Amino acid sequence: MAPELHIADNAEALRQLAADHLAHEISAGIREAGAFHLALAGGSTPAGVYRRLAEPPLRERIEWSRLHIWFGDERCVPPDHEASNFRMASESFLARVPVPYQQVHRIEGEGDPHEAARRYAERLDRILPGGRLDLVLLGLGPDGHVASVFPDTAILEQEEAVAAVYVEALKSWRISLTLRTINQAARVVLLVSGREKAEVVGQALHPPPGAPDLPVHRVRPAGPVRWFLDRDAARDV
Ligand code: 6PG
Repeated sequence: MAPELHIADNAEALRQLAADHLAHEISAGIREAGAFHLALAGGSTPAGVYRRLAEPPLRERIEWSRLHIWFGDERCVPPDHEASNFRMASESFLARVPVPYQQVHRIEGEGDPHEAARRYAERLDRILPGGRLDLVLLGLGPDGHVASVFPDTAILEQEEAVAAVYVEALKSWRISLTLRTINQAARVVLLVSGREKAEVVGQALHPPPGAPDLPVHRVRPAGPVRWFLDRDAARDV
């Protein structure tokens, strides 16, 4: 299915556009099903979107007691570490909204990576049989990675729902939803901002003949992939 492109004039407008979209999807999903399971993206781009979701007017649109928060991936660090995706999400979002703490499903980055991945997969299956998330929010790395599905790593082929992956380029372990879990989500949203991402966005959306297969090319859910970009990131689209 063709990707859906939503292009904002600048980074600030992108944050607002993406936050509006998420608030709409979450509130509609809760009206329809009584709950909504959202997997957050890590990295730096999403923090501004999360802050807007936590502020009026958007915060009033969401019935927080019905929202479950999951994580697309986590760095293998303690939750209070500056590199932790959980810390980023907490500071920009979760500490500001009344999602019940038992509905914030943190990846235990401080533990053994393989054990933490196994425990997260079990929790996902116990709380959400079949692990079909309502929306997975992803960022895009300059090498085409999404979540912690990096090029030339074993996770690209793994069939488990969640996997631990050693990223040679970063000399560090990560824990991530696999492509299987990402692709079975009801909605997949990519959020990409800035001129430094223009090249990879162009490669992702218009792969030149013979170009290497990037992890983002393997994001193929049943529904459309919705791209939220600012003009700088969309320069080569
Ligand atoms: C992570 C993310 C990763 C991120 C991209 C983009 O843990 O780093 O999950 O996939 O979304 O690398 O990161 P930026 O938003 O910081 O550019």
